[in-house]
Amino acid sequence: MSGGSLVRSAVGIDDISVYIPRLYLELADESRPEKPTEFSLSRKSDPSKYLHGIGIAKMSIPDTYQDSAVLAANAILELMDRNNVHPASLARIDIATETGVDESKPVAAYVHGMLEQRYGKGSLKRTSGVEYKFACVSTADALESSLDWAWAGRSNGRNSIICATDIARYPLSSPGEPTQGAGAVALLVKEDPRLLTIDPVIGTHMEDEDDFWRPLFSTTAVVHGKHSERCYLRAMEGAVDDWAEQAVASGIIKAGPSESLVDHVGPMSFHVPYPKMAEKGFAYLLRHFWRGLPRWKNILGEIGDEPRMDSYKTREEFEKAEADYMKRFMETHQFQTEYLDKVADGLVHARESGNSYSASEKSCLSMLLETKATRGTDLAGKRGGSGNYGSGCKAKASSWTVQEEWATIAKKFGHAEKLRHRRSLSLAEYEILHEGKPFPDGRKFVAEPENEFVLVDVTSQGYRHYKFAD
Ligand code: HMG
Repeated sequence: MSGGSLVRSAVGIDDISVYIPRLYLELADESRPEKPTEFSLSRKSDPSKYLHGIGIAKMSIPDTYQDSAVLAANAILELMDRNNVHPASLARIDIATETGVDESKPVAAYVHGMLEQRYGKGSLKRTSGVEYKFACVSTADALESSLDWAWAGRSNGRNSIICATDIARYPLSSPGEPTQGAGAVALLVKEDPRLLTIDPVIGTHMEDEDDFWRPLFSTTAVVHGKHSERCYLRAMEGAVDDWAEQAVASGIIKAGPSESLVDHVGPMSFHVPYPKMAEKGFAYLLRHFWRGLPRWKNILGEIGDEPRMDSYKTREEFEKAEADYMKRFMETHQFQTEYLDKVADGLVHARESGNSYSASEKSCLSMLLETKATRGTDLAGKRGGSGNYGSGCKAKASSWTVQEEWATIAKKFGHAEKLRHRRSLSLAEYEILHEGKPFPDGRKFVAEPENEFVLVDVTSQGYRHYKFAD
């Protein structure tokens, strides 16, 4: 300690591993967007709406032997194997999820059991674990807690793993249905990480909202779709404002007179319920930070002045004008340049896999870093940003610095390869899996397990058994 301020160690993410279910349902054919798909025909919809309107081409669907615990254990096992992590070196393995499997026993405990099947009974007995819940934002909460613990000097040379895992499910034929998905992402969190160090400056915005929830009696979420989009935008802006105030006060970022804080942040990843939402969110943030700068005057010159509430009779008319205005902004060269440079590469994960709730933002971060590394982009030393949103609602904004070794690590994620290594489902197979019904031909699953954890059975008392299927 000096001068009343704590000297914190550099802590952050050392490696990332993503688990993507190997089954998907095609919503739109990316090479021929106008061609109807089985899904678009059955839902009497236009496939272009999926591909261009919300930005999703395929949704990941778990097989019969997969739940959120299995997805998490598979992501963590890969992370530990790839990095030769000794179980005793882990002080905590925390799980973020909103689709847990029990009202009392955390997914963290089931995951512990699965990992001990591989590493030996008792190998993780000194490793703690807890389940974090706050819709999609709980990953940011779990990560913040691990960082605080390490910054407080409590890690004693041990590391932690944060794993986010979820299965996003809405009722069949509901508006939310095309924004489903599933997956898990595991982060190795340690001092002096090889990938990203995280700034000790985290912004928050929270309110009690009724945009999306899943009551105890339901396996699918209830959602007020349009309201949830407004909540996302408002909360994200609030969290970024909170982050910006702290970043400026602590001297992490100093913006010059005609600069925006966002100019000092390079790659960015957001919670992605569907790619268009994240693109819109980024547009609202840029407008927020560019207003008053010379470049915003140029944009006003191109697309006209912003709509003002007092020029419209009703709130709906104003909101419609505002949405149209933002669409025009999103078409400008200035917006497109920033979007393609900083955000777009990560959203490919969500286009190909859908929403994975708590796992969404960090899965898109994985895709973003792997893509930039493969392309040879030089990010070392650059500051990046993450924006997390969870319905209910809360947003978190944080920033990080890309480390020297990042590209070597990111090239080994295998993310794009995992997206390629999948099998397409027929609509009938998808609906059977969605409703948890038996297959008419007696099949127990769609795809044979491939060296991974599987759910074996659930007893009449609701206890779950898992094994590793070689
Ligand atoms: P909808 O009513 O089916 O869609 O619901 P729409 O009619 O509004 O169309 C969507 C977009 O497609 C529109 O663009 C249309 O113009 C366009 P926009 O005006 O929004 O820019 N469109 C087309 N484009 C090209 N060709 C066409 C065409 N037709 C229409 N032919 C909605 C959409 C997202 C509301 C729905 O899918 C939904 O309810 N999803 C679930 C909720 C959600 O994802 N909310 C996002 C924010 S909340 C959040 O992120 C939290 C969450 O992840 C949960 C958690 O935190 O745990 C959900």
